[in-house]
Amino acid sequence: MYTRATGRAVAPAKKVTAPDVRSRKLGAHGAGPPRVPLVMVTAYDFTMARLVDEAGVDIVLVGDSLGMVVQGLTNTLPVTLAEVCYHGRAVARGLSRAHLVGDMPFMSYQASPAQAVESAGMLLKEGAFEAVKLEGGVDMAEHVRRIVRAGVPVMGHVGLTPQSVHALGGFKVQGRGDDAAEQLVADARALEEAGAYSIVLEAIPPDVAARITAAVGVPTIGIGAGGACDGQVLVCTDLLGMARDHAPRFAKRYAELGDAIVDSVRRYAGEVRSGVFPGPEHAYKPNRTDQEFESSGPIAEAAAASDPAALRH
Ligand code: KIV
Repeated sequence: MYTRATGRAVAPAKKVTAPDVRSRKLGAHGAGPPRVPLVMVTAYDFTMARLVDEAGVDIVLVGDSLGMVVQGLTNTLPVTLAEVCYHGRAVARGLSRAHLVGDMPFMSYQASPAQAVESAGMLLKEGAFEAVKLEGGVDMAEHVRRIVRAGVPVMGHVGLTPQSVHALGGFKVQGRGDDAAEQLVADARALEEAGAYSIVLEAIPPDVAARITAAVGVPTIGIGAGGACDGQVLVCTDLLGMARDHAPRFAKRYAELGDAIVDSVRRYAGEVRSGVFPGPEHAYKPNRTDQEFESSGPIAEAAAASDPAALRH
């Protein structure tokens, strides 16, 4: 393997594995060197996967958020196993280091542990994933146990579980009040006991997330769950500032790529319409270099016809 900039040989990056992630519990190693939080981000295609891998993230998730981010849906419920597999194959081709996790879509596992094993197997066989993620706690513990027994690493997900949006009455913070917080701790413990190697905590008050993190021996990965988790995850388009409408309060924007894209495409459109693009530096060497070629083409024709409108549109 060679770096593009120097052409010098470099060792291929070592893939982050599920056991590597499992071992990244903060504070789990006593007086050893300080532990560094896990970094996870979503991606849905090859180009984004290559970029976030180059940036050094530990885990890439093909979330069922693809329903909202890629497909423009209002929730994640219609996303299918085949769609997650399709995006998984594209993302896998872009990763050399990051661990790749695939979301189990709504109703691909809830019906029974047997259905869960089948669907998890499909994600690894057809989607090139290295682990799966599913939503739910105590109620899904048996499903997790059976998937893990089949040799597939499972990442849990508790708190705001978007596949239950109708049951929860919307995308709302979870774990408010003692009973709800206690239930989340029990959910996380059940997932760990069933063999989950890490657990996403979504939209939970930070003190509750800290309690859960202290209560389990596997890393917690927070999204809208404060800084006490063992790692953080964000949706790539949120952190890059590409969302044009509502973005959740917890999603810090590290760039304004949405504005940059609109501005770039506007400039491109303007240059095409005014005849500035493409210039000679963006064209192949012509066969003919004579005067006839130089003065041909739609722009030259419009100019010759003294039709300024034709130059603009
Ligand atoms: O689908 C998704 O992107 C997720 C993350 C927000 C954790 O589940």
